Amino acid sequence: MEELLRENLNWLRNSLKMEDFKTFAIIAFCYRSKLFDFLESERRIEDVSNHFGFDLLATKALIYFLKSRGLVEGSEKFKISNICRTLFKSKLSIGELLEEKLKEIDIWLNLEKALKGTKRSEEEFFRNRIISLGKFALLGDIKVVNLISELEEFKKAERLLDLGGGHGLYAYAFTLLNKNLKAFVFDLPKVIEVAKSFLKEIGAERIEFIPGDFFRDPIGANFDIIFSSFNPGGKKAELIPKIYLKTRGNISDLLPALKGGSVPRICSGIHLSSAGQSGRSEVPRI
Ligand SMILES: C[S@@+](CC[C@H](N)C(=O)[O-])C[C@H]1O[C@@H](n2cnc3c(N)ncnc32)[C@H](O)[C@@H]1O
Repeated sequence: MEELLRENLNWLRNSLKMEDFKTFAIIAFCYRSKLFDFLESERRIEDVSNHFGFDLLATKALIYFLKSRGLVEGSEKFKISNICRTLFKSKLSIGELLEEKLKEIDIWLNLEKALKGTKRSEEEFFRNRIISLGKFALLGDIKVVNLISELEEFKKAERLLDLGGGHGLYAYAFTLLNKNLKAFVFDLPKVIEVAKSFLKEIGAERIEFIPGDFFRDPIGANFDIIFSSFNPGGKKAELIPKIYLKTRGNISDLLPALKGGSVPRICSGIHLSSAGQSGRSEVPRI
């Protein structure tokens, strides 16, 4: 045992603490039990306890936990915050994502069944995966969008291409931040179908879709900005000139560098984001 204790068992200790899981369980419960709906109006802790039949002390702990996460506000009386409203009650609600994660938990808790092979409908899995990516993008990578929206090129831009845009939520966010902007989402035809219906659902405007394979098909032209996030394919060297030629920028500063075998660090109008991949929000310019 002594030897075992000296080993680095942080991973095990952390997994046994289950802190993240407990947070997830609380949030999923509040969402599913419609507690957030109930807290649309200001309520005392006693009101919540009576309405749901919860123990009073446990209810107090729950409300204070939600308050510590910025989901609930108040002191005597409590109601949900705007962040909570956006996350759970708006068109961009992550409710669907929570349901998806709950299904995943089922799979992990029945690992034997999963290992023996259960099949989920490919269609369902595919749609959920794309939408989940989008919701995650909103949760973690919104900083990328903010950083880009501060660029002078962005403020003046009228046409933005989101290459490998998937769910299209980045494109949507960009159109909200620049009222003169039309955004084009380029992706594989199957993905575009999902993005189209999803963006229609949330009422997105000024977004067009270009189905295709960026290795083989034209990607459109005359873009002021080409944005590409978490898109391993989009970083392939052979794609760079194809991408650059579709901006309204000048190819001349790119060619010498390409002839020399390297890619220039800065090309006006092209932004490749690796945010999704690294989990951090950076906006490297090629
Ligand atoms: C990991 S997802 C990233 C989605 C979104 N840009 C984001 O950051 O959340 C990569 C996207 O690139 C698309 N993609 C991959 N290869 C492609 C190709 N050859 N042509 C068009 N799109 C492609 C995928 O369908 C997928 O939507």
